[in-house]
Amino acid sequence: MNLIRTALRRASFVKTIIKPSDTVLEIGVLRGQFSEKLLDANPNKLILIDCWKVFSADVFCDYLTFTSKHWDKMHDKVKAKFEKHSNVSIDRNMSADAVSDYDDNSIDFIYIDANHAYEYVKEDLALWFPKVKVGGWIGGHDYNLKDDVEKAVKEFFADKQGTVIITSDMPSSYFYNKI
Ligand SMILES: C[S@@+](CC[C@H](N)C(=O)[O-])C[C@H]1O[C@@H](n2cnc3c(N)ncnc32)[C@H](O)[C@@H]1O
Repeated sequence: MNLIRTALRRASFVKTIIKPSDTVLEIGVLRGQFSEKLLDANPNKLILIDCWKVFSADVFCDYLTFTSKHWDKMHDKVKAKFEKHSNVSIDRNMSADAVSDYDDNSIDFIYIDANHAYEYVKEDLALWFPKVKVGGWIGGHDYNLKDDVEKAVKEFFADKQGTVIITSDMPSSYFYNKI
């Protein structure tokens, strides 16, 4: 695996890889802000997966002040935001539970932005990588937010041919074109 940096930020980079025939899947949606950028790139289909639920601090240490009510409201707002887009589907589910709903080699681009702890990033990469078509892309956010994502990404792609591309925004994203 090689690692290179691009001057592009994630929203610009995805526009260079998403084609009009593509099925794109985002794991970890929150308020749907990056989902809007993915939709701006005009994919054929956009699938949004997020559990929108309360976790204990030892499992997911972000958004700990959010109650179930907050998460329900956020989910409803994301649903409303994309309601008029018939090519967007929303799956309120855990990443590891949702994965069995998708065939291997069926998704053009998967973007992982859920739990950023080392073991979860590694698990998400291992579970979702087979779902990406050969020639498609897999990537994710917060490469350099803390060591966990970078470590998991470097380990996961270490034995793979090809290049991991790191974007210039902070925190940056990583992208890998599946061979
Ligand atoms: C950093 S936010 C996503 C931000 C969004 N991608 C953006 O750029 O605007 C992380 C989201 O991942 C979700 N999440 C965390 N762990 C998850 C898991 N195991 N399965 C599904 N969703 C998860 C959380 O509910 C939260 O909404």
